[in-house]
Amino acid sequence: MSTFRSVFIAVLIATVILVAALLIHMRRPAVETQQPTPELVLATGKCANCHRNETAAIVTEYERSRHAQENVTCLDCHGPRDNQESFDHRGFVLAKQVTALNCDQCHATQYNEFLRSRHAAPAYAAVQGSAPFTEEQVAFSETYHEGAVDRPPNALAMLEGEAAITSGCVSCHSIGKPNPDGSIGNCTACHARHQTSIKLARLPQTCGQCHMGPDHSQLEIYLESKHGVLFNAQREVMNLDADPMRLTVHDMPVPTCATCHMSGLEGESVTHDVTERLSYWLFAPVSEQRPTYLQGQAEMKAICSNCHTDEHTDLFYAQAESVLVATNAKVREAAAIMDNLRSEGLLTPEPFDEPIEFVYFDYWHYYGRTAKHGAFMGGADFVQWHGNYELLALLVELKAEAEELRTLHGSAAEHTTP
Ligand code: HEC
Ligand code: HEC
Ligand code: HEC
Ligand code: HEC
Ligand code: HEC
Ligand code: HEC
Ligand code: HEC
Ligand code: HEC
Repeated sequence: MSTFRSVFIAVLIATVILVAALLIHMRRPAVETQQPTPELVLATGKCANCHRNETAAIVTEYERSRHAQENVTCLDCHGPRDNQESFDHRGFVLAKQVTALNCDQCHATQYNEFLRSRHAAPAYAAVQGSAPFTEEQVAFSETYHEGAVDRPPNALAMLEGEAAITSGCVSCHSIGKPNPDGSIGNCTACHARHQTSIKLARLPQTCGQCHMGPDHSQLEIYLESKHGVLFNAQREVMNLDADPMRLTVHDMPVPTCATCHMSGLEGESVTHDVTERLSYWLFAPVSEQRPTYLQGQAEMKAICSNCHTDEHTDLFYAQAESVLVATNAKVREAAAIMDNLRSEGLLTPEPFDEPIEFVYFDYWHYYGRTAKHGAFMGGADFVQWHGNYELLALLVELKAEAEELRTLHGSAAEHTTP
């Protein structure tokens, strides 16, 4: 009787231990249990186990990524490539900085597309000028975007100073910062470092980290557009994780920023060159057609046509282009006022040292751009109240200030004549 009981207890304990071991094993991340080679166990198991205590959020984000499922390890990204600077870390050699070059070894297509877009070198040069780039990098970008990299540092940035540039301008514009290893940018602005998610990149808020505010209100415009409202209403039922090679309008019946500017909807080709589908330089004071006008517009219209009739799209573009033409005329009128003041010797050649220069800057940089962006992305309030109304009001102010300068100068001149 007692032997039976002790055998029973022994079996029970053994079973409990086995089940517990199994449960613990099941709770371990897939990357630890499915390591096919010792090399991978070494690389991932070791980093992850220790970093689960040191930087738990990073390990959790990584475990939820596609990379973890595909056995891409910590070391695959953190190991040094080519001429990258490295350091010793707990028995491993790691790259001092993980850059686009580390992603490029497995995603060369995406990197090369990114490299020829305005998100690469032109974005950083817009603030810092050509100095941080090598001659080859400048030459490469100039073939795609003439004048966008071979330029001086931005005058406004220089006046505001280093601290403002570092935490302000460059936080957004570092999307195209050159790295010490010779590559440009990092891929984490839209994918994050460890989640490396497609879903994240398709969310409007991700682009809106940088594409917001009065000088480029793309996020605000989108959120007020029919697309933005419908997207937010239907977000839960959309398949934001859909494979880019097979994304259909059933996965996402409403577009986000990524859909129009990057996605491969219904077999169109995916692109990391956000410049590809554009036909104007909307950010410029006076917006001219890009050299790639025809192709850019055709490609964007092809995206619309997955969801709309051609007639609907053509009408939309015709209306937006008429806002563009009207805004160009208004900005030219304001620019002529400034040019005249300058040729009459009433303004110094230095930028941003006289109040009227700020009125003119706001005129095209805030309100002119906003009107155009609103028209091309469906934001009526931005075309009107944040756009054309302000253009009207500021033109009156600009003219009044110009007259005041002339009167002042006139009386000053009288005063000094002997
Ligand atoms: C035995 C523990 C341990 C192991 C194994 C380990 N790390 Fe670390 N790691 C740390 C600690 C501790 C820090 C410092 C954390 C802090 O500053 O809060 C760190 C820091 C880092 C940093 C930041 C370094 C810096 O100077 O900015 C990176 C990147 C990193 N680890 C990656 C890895 C990778 C990749 C592996 C595997 C190839 C790995 N670690 C293995 C403990 C470990
Ligand atoms: C897809 C590539 C990729 C993988 C895989 C990856 N990392 Fe990273 N990790 C990065 C990038 C990019 C950065 C930012 C590096 C930089 O600025 O130099 C980073 C930064 C870090 C940092 C410093 C970040 C901070 O906020 O302090 C730590 C620590 C780190 N990784 C640990 C790990 C560990 C541990 C693993 C595996 C569990 C891992 N990484 C897997 C790309 C990756
Ligand atoms: C060692 C190779 C390797 C490295 C290094 C690597 N990846 Fe990946 N990546 C993969 C594989 C494999 C997949 C899954 C198959 C695919 O989509 O190509 C993947 C998938 C992805 C995806 C799609 C994720 C999804 O949800 O479907 C993104 C985004 C991505 N990687 C970004 C990055 C970024 C950013 C870096 C650098 C910080 C990087 N990868 C570094 C191999 C790598
Ligand atoms: C919140 C993020 C953010 C900050 C901060 C920011 N920018 Fe930008 N900037 C952008 C975005 C996004 C665009 C693209 C606008 C477009 O194409 O409509 C842009 C466009 C530009 C352009 C026009 C494009 C070109 O290549 O000529 C210049 C110049 C520029 N920024 C300079 C600066 C300077 C200088 C600062 C700081 C004084 C600054 N930016 C601060 C996000 C930012
Ligand atoms: C401006 C934001 C942005 C940046 C920067 C960016 N990506 Fe992406 N990426 C996306 C979006 C959006 C998608 C999904 C496209 C779609 O909806 O079809 C994507 C998809 C991907 C995929 C999956 C593609 C496929 O065909 O399966 C990979 C891999 C990837 N990105 C890698 C990178 C790498 C590497 C870099 C840096 C060179 C990078 N990304 C920089 C937004 C970005
Ligand atoms: C980290 C900041 C940042 C993020 C995130 C970002 N962008 Fe940008 N984007 C910029 C800057 C800066 C520029 C201006 C580059 C220039 O012309 O100098 C820009 C320019 C652009 C342009 C105009 C390109 C041209 O040729 O004029 C488009 C379109 C664009 N971005 C789309 C997107 C989309 C879509 C996303 C999200 C999937 C996104 N961006 C995410 C910073 C960002
Ligand atoms: C329904 C499609 C659609 C959506 C959604 C959309 N855009 Fe656009 N976007 C356009 C069109 C069309 C243009 C003007 C293209 C041209 O130049 O022909 C444009 C222009 C731009 C530009 C101007 C580049 C320049 O020349 O100054 C930027 C930057 C941009 N979009 C970013 C975004 C961001 C960020 C979002 C999301 C918050 C977004 N877009 C949502 C269609 C879209
Ligand atoms: C993925 C599908 C999809 C794409 C791509 C798309 N749209 Fe839409 N759009 C919609 C849906 C859905 C609605 C709401 C239609 C309804 O209410 O029946 C809508 C509504 C609109 C509206 C407001 C309704 C109206 O007729 O006034 C306009 C304007 C519009 N889209 C223009 C465009 C333009 C221009 C493009 C390309 C630059 C575009 N859309 C790309 C799905 C899309």
